[in-house]
Amino acid sequence: MSELAKSLAVVQARIAAAARAAGRAPTSVELVAVTKTVAVGRLNEAVAAGQLLLGENYAQELRDKALVVPGARWHFIGPLQRNKVKYVVGTAELIHGVSDAALGLEIAARAAKMSLVQRCLVQVNVGDEAQKSGCGIDAFPSLLDALRMQPALRVEGLMCIPPAEGDPRPHFATLRALAERHALTTLSMGMSADYELAIAEGATLVRVGSAIFGARG
Ligand SMILES: Cc1ncc(COP(=O)(O)O)c(C=O)c1O
Repeated sequence: MSELAKSLAVVQARIAAAARAAGRAPTSVELVAVTKTVAVGRLNEAVAAGQLLLGENYAQELRDKALVVPGARWHFIGPLQRNKVKYVVGTAELIHGVSDAALGLEIAARAAKMSLVQRCLVQVNVGDEAQKSGCGIDAFPSLLDALRMQPALRVEGLMCIPPAEGDPRPHFATLRALAERHALTTLSMGMSADYELAIAEGATLVRVGSAIFGARG
């Protein structure tokens, strides 16, 4: 077994254990392997080891990698600029980071042009951090209303990146409570350092990069 396959197996086992400890089925949590800065050869290795769901942060990288990693399914997990929407809609099954109405409308327009319904999540700035993208908690209900008016968009849930310092768990709980209040079922939260805590708080998608592929260069 390669080092990568071993790391992957460890993460998968820890996800399953965290789900069981939370009284959840291991199949209720899906692993998104984060491909930011990871070379294509290693992505093909991950797919060969059974990890088909990949998540990319950069729009052009998504477009390029999707062409050369056969068998993979893609999510887009990074901040998205409106002029790069064209690289992402239709290629990513799920866009995690819709943060404002203008971006949502751009995605919807592109999806409508391609005759598809784009699944997406709203990124919520749970720590109210100036440097992070994401919708504020107070602004969220009106953003959701605006996005739900777009037939070419389907908002399925929420995503967050909690502040780097401090306990992420209250932030995960905040995201979960917000999703429940609005009947949203998908929760994208948890990275290499905290995915087990996120699962304890209800994560259905965990985005894990360095614990699988090693530290980014
Ligand atoms: C939005 C997002 N989620 C998840 C990750 C994965 O982080 P880690 O390598 O700590 O698992 C990254 C990495 O940059 C990211 O930007």
